[in-house]
Amino acid sequence: MTLPDFRRRKAGNQRISFVTCYDCAFARLVAQTDLDCILVGDSVAMVVHGHPSTLAADLPMMLFHTESVARGAGGKFIVGDMPFLEHRKGQSEAVSAAQALLRAGAQAIKLEGAAGNLEIIQSLVEGGVPVMGHVGLTPQFIHAFGGFKVQGREDAAAERILADAKALEAAGVFSIVLEGIPAPLGKRITEALSIPTIGIGAGPDTDGQVLVLHDLLGFTEKPPKFARAFGEVASASVTALRAYDEAVKSSTFPTEKESYA
Ligand code: KIV
Repeated sequence: MTLPDFRRRKAGNQRISFVTCYDCAFARLVAQTDLDCILVGDSVAMVVHGHPSTLAADLPMMLFHTESVARGAGGKFIVGDMPFLEHRKGQSEAVSAAQALLRAGAQAIKLEGAAGNLEIIQSLVEGGVPVMGHVGLTPQFIHAFGGFKVQGREDAAAERILADAKALEAAGVFSIVLEGIPAPLGKRITEALSIPTIGIGAGPDTDGQVLVLHDLLGFTEKPPKFARAFGEVASASVTALRAYDEAVKSSTFPTEKESYA
């Protein structure tokens, strides 16, 4: 994928598939598929590091995981998340963070919210940084929202999200993540924009979908309503771990074949 491909996919009504990924081992697996793009999301703070929200993901954490993914991604298009408030520290800090994410191996950055971000987005885009927007249930706003709650149910809130999406498009983002909004609003925003929308909990009518890797592999105990486990990798892992434990304790591992003479 390249930026022109994003435009072509939208024009040709061809879906775009995104998955989150946080390390080289899983990136190597993603690289063996036809999945289009990888998002090194700040969800890493929750999924990999066990924090209760994404606010714990800081720039060093995002760079560490972006570098790891880039080593295994086999040329897939990588988007790196701008961590909570990093871009609000000032123009220079925002530019440095974007520069660091691209130097770590991302081809684009993603930034949550619209109000107050448009100027920095325009400046980054003019400087050659592809920027992805993110509206709706933006997880960095968890405290402002009072939890992980679907956004845009009321008419005024829906209009605000639509206006934010249009303002982001005008600021130059190449694509927008629509998260945790009613499906009809996902459809409406998608039809109103000329750039592709990537949905997560935004219904079936967005131009593409993104899922958190651990949700789709069956690692998440209580997955959100919008997620689907396409495999049961967690339970397969537990089975393998139990088999190893049993083999050690019954002295059936290692065998002669697994030992040096
Ligand atoms: O951090 C993340 O994984 C995300 C996706 C949920 C869109 O932002």
